Amino acid sequence: MDFLQSLAQKGSDFERYLEQYRFVAQPAILSDAMNYALFSPGKRFRPVLMLESCAALGGDREDCIPLAVGVEMVHSYSLVHDDLPCMDDDDLRRGMPTCHIAFGYANAVLAGDGLLNGAYEAMAGAYFESKNKSAYMKAFAEIAQASGSKGMVAGQAADMAGTAGGASAQAVEFIHSSKTGALIKACAAAGAIMSGSGEAGCEMLAKYGGIVGLMYQIADDIIDATASEAEAGKRTGKDAEAEKITYPLVYGLAGAKEQLRSLCSEAVAAISPLGSPGNFLKETALYLLGSADRIEEPI
Ligand code: IPE
Ligand code: IPE
Ligand code: MG
Ligand code: MG
Ligand code: MG
Repeated sequence: MDFLQSLAQKGSDFERYLEQYRFVAQPAILSDAMNYALFSPGKRFRPVLMLESCAALGGDREDCIPLAVGVEMVHSYSLVHDDLPCMDDDDLRRGMPTCHIAFGYANAVLAGDGLLNGAYEAMAGAYFESKNKSAYMKAFAEIAQASGSKGMVAGQAADMAGTAGGASAQAVEFIHSSKTGALIKACAAAGAIMSGSGEAGCEMLAKYGGIVGLMYQIADDIIDATASEAEAGKRTGKDAEAEKITYPLVYGLAGAKEQLRSLCSEAVAAISPLGSPGNFLKETALYLLGSADRIEEPI
């Protein structure tokens, strides 16, 4: 099984749990819009990363489920708002019309609000049943911090400023580590915390998660610059048009791949003490590096 097949398998295993969190609201158009965004065909990378980080340290994946569900809801809300006309103004997401195209602007804003609060409801609601309450609360706090104005939201704000503030290496690293890297890092860290394996494992996975999170957005930039809309399931070629600060803008396409290569080595080195239980995590980093192989043929 290659990496994408393995991710798809783990993603669909996770979706069986996610299904139990389908929203029902009044008016029904609100929960229809929320479910439309949450249950459209995403890769489920973040929840899978959390579960696999936990398992790599010898923990039980099931202990992470409510937190993994919460993260996927936070991620889905961020995509709904990211696609709005006042942000990236996109009409295609996961191969489907974006939430605001399908349900209107106001319902899309509210669906995002509902998903974000639904995430906290799912995460907080499972606290009392968690086996290790202090680990659970620590992991929950990591996710909350990474999602907000110290993480994803800060990155989104900086991203929206575009090249106006200057397109430096430092600026693009901040944007990417914040808007995308922070939540991915929190997933690896939360999985490690929930494994109960102790400080060294948590530090190792947090380091790995930060690197892979940055790689994830660099790979997304390269997809935007090189892939077709059918391949990406979303509009491509838009970052340059919108004057976004991206790795290809700052380093060139070949330079962006070089950055990925050195980050990949760092990520693999960071988790080398795990040995074979860390294989999926290692494959993740290698896959993200390989996803840049198409850079010879920009669109
Ligand atoms: C898209 O994330 C937005 C980024 C942060 C790059 P994904 O590529 O994980 O999107 P889905 O969830 O699979 O649709
Ligand atoms: C999205 O970055 C980051 C978040 C949604 C937090 P992008 O704007 O590059 O993501 P896509 O390309 O629209 O998926
Ligand atoms: Mg964006
Ligand atoms: Mg976008
Ligand atoms: Mg993008």
